[in-house]
Amino acid sequence: MHKFVLIAGSCGFIGSRLVQRLSKKGLNLICVDNCSNGKWENLLDVDCIKIECDISDYSYLLNSLKDLNKTKEIKISEIWHLAANSDIQKGTEDINVDFANTFETTLSLLKITKFFEVPAFRFASSSAVYGDYKDKAITEKDSICRPISNYGAMKLASEAVIFASKEAFLKDISIFRFPNVVGTPATHGVIFDFINKLKLNPDKLFVLGNGTQRKQYLYVEDLIDAMILVANQKNNANYFDDDIYNIGPNDSGITVKEIAEMTIKYQSPNAQIIYGLDPQGWVGDVPKFSYNTSKIRSLGWKEVFNSHQAVEKSVIEIKEQLK
Ligand SMILES: NC(=O)c1ccc[n+]([C@@H]2O[C@H](COP(=O)([O-])OP(=O)(O)OC[C@H]3O[C@@H](n4cnc5c(N)ncnc54)[C@H](O)[C@@H]3O)[C@@H](O)[C@H]2O)c1
Repeated sequence: MHKFVLIAGSCGFIGSRLVQRLSKKGLNLICVDNCSNGKWENLLDVDCIKIECDISDYSYLLNSLKDLNKTKEIKISEIWHLAANSDIQKGTEDINVDFANTFETTLSLLKITKFFEVPAFRFASSSAVYGDYKDKAITEKDSICRPISNYGAMKLASEAVIFASKEAFLKDISIFRFPNVVGTPATHGVIFDFINKLKLNPDKLFVLGNGTQRKQYLYVEDLIDAMILVANQKNNANYFDDDIYNIGPNDSGITVKEIAEMTIKYQSPNAQIIYGLDPQGWVGDVPKFSYNTSKIRSLGWKEVFNSHQAVEKSVIEIKEQLK
């Protein structure tokens, strides 16, 4: 019997960094992705079993794992679910995008969990489940979830079926709610968009929204440290709330205006920045929020980079990536 950890969405930005970290721990890994946004090249230096498929296609994924089981007997000890639609605007235009890639992938993976009697399920949720709280510090326990995007709604629906599965068959779950994560290999996000725009037009940077949106940014390795720390804790939760962790830096964030200025400084110093009029970048965008992260900090986690440092480091790294 060979023990494996399965990572769904393994070829994406955060998934590929998580795979690299888990691989360094000497774990056997099964990586699953449909390469709609990620790519296998992000895992070039990793020894793992690769399954390329749409995760929402339960039968295909089940048969792939059964085939694998025929050649070597596998025991999946943990599933990390990071597959999702990452384009909030696309999901606003067509709800099927988030329904299929964010919610149906969760259902499919939970059925896999049940079939193979996998005890543990780790889910990359999002601060988007909370909705627009403005300046009020959002806690895991006291804040009602009122998402304002289909992306956030399908993350929250996913959380709900994961909790229901815990009642029925899952032993150990972790729900990670985090804001914007930055670093490489970037597949989307504000810095990635700004650098791509500046490559096309080095003279002008058009910004969605008026630039006053203020958000927290977490460096990808800080996020992975936090998630692995939680996964390693023995789960003694008596209340469902104990399975949820806000993860974010302990600062008031950085504005889109500051990010735009930092990006042109490194990519195209003479570019003119042209802002939109709306305080919101797009429909479903939460322009400002404040996050309470005392629960994850009580486990001993602390970010290495604050929002400003995480953004600056990522501008430099993403510029190099997109060369
Ligand atoms: N990056 C952030 O700022 C951020 C913030 C909060 C939450 N999250 C969540 O973290 C997770 C990882 O985000 P990311 O930034 O790495 O995004 P990403 O788009 O780089 O990675 C997602 C991966 O899932 C794959 N995928 C999507 N739909 C699929 C499907 N139907 N079947 C198989 N594979 C599929 C994509 O090809 C991609 O490789 C996502 O669940 C995302 O919602 C990300």
